[in-house]
Amino acid sequence: MTAPFPALPELAGQPYFQYRNNVLYAEDVPLDHLAGQLGTPLYVYSRAALKAAWETYRSAIGQRPVLVCYGMKANSTLAVLKEFARLGAGFDIVSGGELKRALAAGADSSKIVFSGVGKQAWEMRDALAAQVKCFNVESEAELHRLSEVALDLGVRAPVSLRVNPDVDAQTHPYISTGLKENKFGIAIESALDAYRVAQSLPGLDIVGVDCHIGSQLTDITPYFDALEKLLDLIEKLDQTGIRIKHLDLGGGLGIRYTDETPPSPKALLDRVFERLNARGQGHLQLVLEPGRSLVGNAGVLLTTVQYLKHAEARNFAIVDAAMNDLLRPALYEAFHGVRALRPRAGKPTEYDIVGPVCESADWLARQRLLTLEQGDVLAVESAGAYSMAMASNYNTRTRAAEAMVDGDKYYVVRQRETLDDLLRGESTLP
Ligand code: LLP
Repeated sequence: MTAPFPALPELAGQPYFQYRNNVLYAEDVPLDHLAGQLGTPLYVYSRAALKAAWETYRSAIGQRPVLVCYGMKANSTLAVLKEFARLGAGFDIVSGGELKRALAAGADSSKIVFSGVGKQAWEMRDALAAQVKCFNVESEAELHRLSEVALDLGVRAPVSLRVNPDVDAQTHPYISTGLKENKFGIAIESALDAYRVAQSLPGLDIVGVDCHIGSQLTDITPYFDALEKLLDLIEKLDQTGIRIKHLDLGGGLGIRYTDETPPSPKALLDRVFERLNARGQGHLQLVLEPGRSLVGNAGVLLTTVQYLKHAEARNFAIVDAAMNDLLRPALYEAFHGVRALRPRAGKPTEYDIVGPVCESADWLARQRLLTLEQGDVLAVESAGAYSMAMASNYNTRTRAAEAMVDGDKYYVVRQRETLDDLLRGESTLP
């Protein structure tokens, strides 16, 4: 194994993405071969990396009562969902569409929690019909609607209230969700009243307390700020005669994109249970909704250099992937590592890696030292989460194909969209 530039951090997604004889591999498949066979832009996932990420949770849990509901918004590709369903995961869904996907992948609906601020009646009906484990309700108005829908179907809806604990998750403002000014959840001060409302509604059955404070958390302190507030609430609920069966702490554990050192599931769980036991709540089932930490470093995005452009102020590598394929840099100025599949010798040049879309925000990486030639294929790292899932058709660009590697085999798990796919369903006026 030869690393291209010692100055770069270790490849994200080790050991599933590694160089062998100066060629980047996913497991035992050389990625240049895959790019040649399937074309680019191409998302490639490692099955072993998905399983390993799951294992970090499973082994951390041991015998403790924890249900992991994969936050499938991070990557809802059927083949990815199927892997987690096979491993026994539950799912955290946020739409009727995600419910349909989860069920299509063989999810056990008794392990599905339904989150989201704007659930529509049809989505509630579908989820009730599927008998999901719980609705994470985010407002009083939603409680009323859910109760009506449930009564209509002659059932009772299991509910948790998503409480907004007003803690600072210290992450990017767009992915921070537990502050007062965020649209999410019910303010902790109003939570008791909202639970009383829930208790009074005939179509509801209170089962839990829920929160989710943000994403890409690299420090566990905010979880514990939230946890103490939730435990205070659970005690108050107890005194009111409202018994909680599970506590859902949401998702949010970060991953390493560059040099972050995110806490492990074990570090989180050990301390959560220590606090639960200390406060006499060790009987509660704990639900977690991790997305990114299960898939983020299990995927890369392959893209081919179309042109090298040396402008006065900058050098640009114009590639065939764009913000429509990977929005995170444009939206959050997110960092993703970029590597050549076959690193070249020679003095590196500082490049901005940009796409063909007509927006200055269309960049994938900035100021990266690379030795490049036209036609080289690059891997954008850490592209397993919030990457393909956020892809669009902007500039009438077809969405990328996706492949999953398993040992020395690979499978196309989503065909590249065709231009005909893009025009389908449209019509013009007579
Ligand atoms: N549960 C709820 C209620 C959520 O809103 C989220 C993510 C999760 C679980 C999963 O969180 P995770 O474990 O993945 O951090 N597009 C952004 C991330 C948005 C996260 C939205 N909610 C990004 O690319 O960084």
